[in-house]
Parts: sequence; C-alpha cells; structure tokens
Amino acid sequence: MNHQFNDSKYLELIFKGLDERYGIDFSLYRESTIKRRLARRMAATDSGDYLDYFYALEKNPEEYENLLRDLTIKVSHFFRNRHLFQTLDNDIFPDIINNKKGKNDRTLRIWGAGCAFGEEIYSVAITLLEYLKKTKKRVDDYDMSIFGTDIDEQALSKAKLGIYDKNAVRNVKKEILDHYFIMRCDHYQLIDSIKNLVNFTKNDLTSEKHISPPSGVIANYDLILCRNTLIYFSAALQQRAFLNFIRSLNPRGYLVLGGSESIPNDFKDYFILTNLKDKIYKFRGQGR
Ligand SMILES: C[S@@+](CC[C@H](N)C(=O)[O-])C[C@H]1O[C@@H](n2cnc3c(N)ncnc32)[C@H](O)[C@@H]1O
Repeated sequence: MNHQFNDSKYLELIFKGLDERYGIDFSLYRESTIKRRLARRMAATDSGDYLDYFYALEKNPEEYENLLRDLTIKVSHFFRNRHLFQTLDNDIFPDIINNKKGKNDRTLRIWGAGCAFGEEIYSVAITLLEYLKKTKKRVDDYDMSIFGTDIDEQALSKAKLGIYDKNAVRNVKKEILDHYFIMRCDHYQLIDSIKNLVNFTKNDLTSEKHISPPSGVIANYDLILCRNTLIYFSAALQQRAFLNFIRSLNPRGYLVLGGSESIPNDFKDYFILTNLKDKIYKFRGQGR
C-alpha cells in the first residue's frame, strides 16, 4: 500500500480523535502550523510518522492532552505590546464612554477571545479601572461585563486562579504590580477585585452554533480583542470567527487584532482602521 496514503489516513484519524474528545476540528486550522506542532509531539513520543503517533495516542490517551496543549499554544504575558494599552487608555475607552454618555447607556462590555491564561483580558480590566480612576468615574456607575474565552478549559481554570510567574508580569509597571497583585515567594497573585471583574467561559470562536460568550447572553460588545489567535486559522475558520465578531459588536464598537493579523476581504467593508500600529478597527455596524 502507498505509504503516503497510509500516513495521511492516520493524520485524519488523529484529527478525528481530537474532534471526538474536544469538539475541535483541527483539520480546518492552518496546515503548516498544525504539522509543525504535530512534529514536536511526534519527536517527544519517538514516533517516526503519523501511523506511529496515532498508535502512541491510542496506547496512551493522555497524549491527546499534550497534543491539544501544543496545538493551542498559549504564549502570552500581561500588557503584551504595551502601546496598545496606552491607546485603550488615551483613545478607545474615552470614545466608548463618551459615546454612551449621550445615550445614557451605562453598560460596558468587553470580550477577550482566545484569552489563554487570562493575561490579556486582565490587563484590559486593569487599564479600564485605572482609566475610570484617572477620570474620576466610579466603577459602580457602570454595568460591566468582561469576558475571557478560550476553547481550552484547562487554560480557563488557570486564568480563573489568577496566579502568574515572574515572566508573565515582566511588562507590568511597578505601581500596577503593587496595587493589583500580591507577591508570594515565587509567584504573583491577582487581587480578588480584578479576578471578580472577569468571567471566564469556554467558547469556540469558530463555532457556527453560538454567537459570542456565553451562549444565551446577547452580544453588544463595545470592545473585542482577538490577538494572536486568528493566525492559526485557515481562511474558512477566519470567516466563521469574523461572522461571530460582526454579530457580537455594537455599532461603533472596536475590534483589536494581533500584529500579523488582518480583516479578511469579505469583512473589510464592515470596519474602519483607526490605528494601524495597534491593529484597532471600528465597526460600522451590520448595515455598513
Ligand atoms: C497565543 S494565544 C493568544 C493569547 C492572547 N490573546 C494574546 O495575544 O496574548 C492563542 C489562544 O487561542 C486559543 N484558541 C485556539 N483556537 C481557538 C478557538 N477556535 N476558539 C477560541 N480560542 C481558540 C488557544 O487555546 C490559545 O489560548
């Protein structure tokens, strides 16, 4: 039998195993990225090809967990690309809040999609609190909903704990670190008032069934951040993610992407680029 055929058949079986366990179809993710990540786990398990690796997975189903971890890599840290958080403080939060003032709307809704261990969405929550403090506004005056979502439930459990190592907080200014974190011997623990501000919930960004987190809660987000997640998606998956974004954003709401990510052509008309450096787009509304 043709070896190449055999091997791709086992790759399909590996994808099937992942889909059955986690409900994620990685065959739709960007092929080069997925194959690179698979190669790492194959090397770690001494598997020469997909057939070997499939047997390694079947023999030791815990290896599926290792594979999932590697396929959904979670490199992140607090205030990643610090400039973005200055822009939120200088431009985005003032615009969102001023826009609402005229309508007597007190809701503030923010969604961090692909939030990994929570570093990014907690950084946004801290930036918002600091902004409110600076502008002498009271947190209690707002009805805030801040969500962090990911497909990886273990990552969400860790995010809820709010415990980080030194590396994760390397970009945090000293006064913020002193104010919002408790330093333990070898780690940093977020204080409860920040932890309680963010709801972590599982959500597949590419799902065709659910609109934004969590299912059942209407959308109306003022700000969605989805950085360093779309790069792993094929064009078809990106389309699904953007369909979810446009259904979930308020008219004049903002979308923030990662440095090497952009809006697919089909969705370009829905957005105006407001900040190239920080990849910030303003939503025109469904009517465009
Ligand atoms: C590199 S992290 C990005 C973390 C953070 N947004 C940042 O930029 O620092 C990518 C995250 O996307 C998540 N992810 C991958 N596919 C996803 C999907 N279909 N739906 C939701 N999250 C997904 C991964 O589990 C991972 O935690």
